[in-house]
Amino acid sequence: MRRIAVLTSGGDSPGMNPAIRAVTRTALHSGCEVYGVFRGYAGLIQNDMRRLEYKDVGGIIQRGGTMLLTARSPEFMTPSGREKALENLRWHGIDGLVVIGGDGSLRGATKLEEEHDFPTICLPGTIDNDIYGTDMTIGADTALNTVLEAIDKIKDTASSHQRAFIIETMGRRSGYLALMGGLAGGAEAILIPEIPDTTIEEVVEVIRRSFRKGKTNCVIVVAEGAPLNAQAIQDHINAMVGEDTTFNLNFRTRATILGHIQRGGSPSAFDRTLATRLGCAAVEMLLCNKHGGLVGMQSRKITLTPYAEVLAHPKVLDAKLYELSKILDRY
Ligand code: ADP
Ligand code: F6P
Repeated sequence: MRRIAVLTSGGDSPGMNPAIRAVTRTALHSGCEVYGVFRGYAGLIQNDMRRLEYKDVGGIIQRGGTMLLTARSPEFMTPSGREKALENLRWHGIDGLVVIGGDGSLRGATKLEEEHDFPTICLPGTIDNDIYGTDMTIGADTALNTVLEAIDKIKDTASSHQRAFIIETMGRRSGYLALMGGLAGGAEAILIPEIPDTTIEEVVEVIRRSFRKGKTNCVIVVAEGAPLNAQAIQDHINAMVGEDTTFNLNFRTRATILGHIQRGGSPSAFDRTLATRLGCAAVEMLLCNKHGGLVGMQSRKITLTPYAEVLAHPKVLDAKLYELSKILDRY
């Protein structure tokens, strides 16, 4: 393999830049040329790519986002879109592609392998930590720290006003950020899509119990994919205040939707080192003609898991951690 390309796709995540840096410099070190593709699969279709040299990826290791930009490309979902992408790869004489992105991006890479026998290899880049074949995705740790910082800050004001706060995290269908953020932040309740059985009545009871026990605040963390969202919980509780005399809460609840701040920021030390190690390994594997899978870190070992296996298995959250959070907040 003499020439490879790298792109970032889907939702950006902190750590994509260190991954691009590691891919580029490892390839150059091995005597291989590197092309950076801008705006993910959309740029591949529009032939928006250029050669990357050593210095092009300098000064980015500490920067959030992605210097290659990212996009969601509906055209790449069609066979004709992928055909165009492939023509451009071939026109540049590119023999292999490194894709950094989430599970959707991995599906796209799978199609290039399956339909066109084109060598691709994926790095897990998403804050959602929802990809099988790696213990952690690149960006999840930084996002988790952002969530935790937000919880800590909200607790300060919640305590001062003796209020209950509902905090909504991102994660699409994954409850990872909510579960781990809630656990580390000492939330009174955590609602996640993987355990969808918490009712609004139970949430109300958690809040009542907290204040009955003399707590000065109550924080409920909700994942965006959970059946009850933060706004719905806030509206329900605020409608009760003043109307239900058994509900002796003289405060109103506030919902905070953390949103896209979770995707930004300088990557944590964990994400930088994970991205660096996985980026380097992806190139080494590609150059040894190993491809068609996700490069991940499992039990501290770098692994290559075939796409079919990654796509066949949902990432499973540790249910024990959920139980633990309930035990710790039940005093
Ligand atoms: P993420 O990679 O963060 O999960 P998306 O799910 O939006 O983000 O996927 C990113 C891009 O990957 C999509 O815009 C599309 O171009 C491509 N993609 C996703 N799913 C498929 C698929 N089944 N077939 C081909 N391409 C896909
Ligand atoms: O996959 C990353 C993610 O941030 C999810 O957590 C969230 O559901 C989604 O992307 C939001 O996407 P957008 O930025 O397109 O609104």
